[in-house]
Amino acid sequence: MEASVALRPIDGVHVTTLIDNYTDVLLPDEGPIRRWGAAGSGGRAAPVPDSISVTGQAVDGLRAEHGFSALVELRVDGAARRILFDAGVTPDGLIGNLDRLELRPDSFESIVFSHGHFDHVMGLDGVARRLGSTNMPVYLHPDFWRQRRLVSGPDRAFELPVPSRAAIEGVGFEIIEGRQPSYLLDGMLLITGEVDRTVPFEQGIPNHQAFVDGTWQPDPLIHDDQAMILHVAGKGLVILTGCGHAGVVNIVRYAKKLTGITQVYAVLGGFHLRAGPVVDETVAALALESPTLLVPSHCTSWQAQHALATAMPAATRPNTVGTRFEL
Ligand SMILES: [Fe+2]
Repeated sequence: MEASVALRPIDGVHVTTLIDNYTDVLLPDEGPIRRWGAAGSGGRAAPVPDSISVTGQAVDGLRAEHGFSALVELRVDGAARRILFDAGVTPDGLIGNLDRLELRPDSFESIVFSHGHFDHVMGLDGVARRLGSTNMPVYLHPDFWRQRRLVSGPDRAFELPVPSRAAIEGVGFEIIEGRQPSYLLDGMLLITGEVDRTVPFEQGIPNHQAFVDGTWQPDPLIHDDQAMILHVAGKGLVILTGCGHAGVVNIVRYAKKLTGITQVYAVLGGFHLRAGPVVDETVAALALESPTLLVPSHCTSWQAQHALATAMPAATRPNTVGTRFEL
C-alpha cells in the first residue's frame, strides 16, 4: 500500500497527552501548546475532598506514570474526530486522567496501539470497564501479543505483562491486525505498520527477548512498533511515536517515504533514547529534518532531551500530562 493512496490533508489536529512520565502544572502556554494546570489555559485541577485542610478541599492533579497515551483529535470542516493512541501502564491511570480532563472514552472512534509493551496497553483495562460492552476497533501489529522479557544477567530477567487477546476480545473490541501501512478515518490518518529499518545506529533493545516456538529468542527490533501520521495542510507531517522502538529517525524517514511529503511539522512521543553515541547521531539526523515542533516524551532520557533541546532550541518542548498541542 506504500504511497498508493495519498494521505488526505486535514485542517489541524489536537493531540492531548493523557499519560506520560511527566507532570508540571507551572508551565505556561506557548504558541500552539496549551498547558494543563495553574499557569496554562488547557484546564486546571478540580477540588477534591480531604481531611486535613482548613476548607476540607484539596486540589486534584493528573497522574503521571511510566507509560504513554494520547488523544488524537482531527479537525476537519469544523468537526472533530477522535482516536486513542496507546493507553498507559496502570489499569486505572488512563480512565482516571480522562475523567479529570472530562473526556469520554465512548467518544473515540477507535484505538491504535503502537506496540504490545504493557506501559502502552494496560490502561485499556479501566477504559474497557467504563465502556462495558463495545465493538470499538483496535488496530495493532500481530507481534503485539508476544510474550517478552528483558534480560539483564545470567539469572536476571524481567518478564513483561502480556496483553490477552481473549480478554480484550471478550469485552467486544474488534481486533484488526496489520503489518502493512493502513489508512484510517477516510484516509486522513495513516498508521505505519512495520517500520522500514534503514538507519544503522538504530538497533533496538539488545537484551529484549520473545518466547517463540517454545524458547526465548532474541527480539531486539520489536517489529510491532508503529507510528501514527497525519498531514496538516500547509504545515506538513505530524508524527506520533509510542516508544519509538523502531528508531525515531527510521520512523520519520518512513513517514516521508510512505506519504511522499517531505516537510516534517511535528514529532511527538517516546523516542526510546537513553545515552551514548546513538543520542548524538539521532540528534544530528533529526536536526536535518528541521521539525517545527519536537516533543521527546515518555522513554526519552533526560540526557537525550537536553541534547535535542540544545541542538533545536526553537523546536524542542517538554511533554506533560494534560498538555494539548493544537497543530
Ligand atoms: Fe514505552
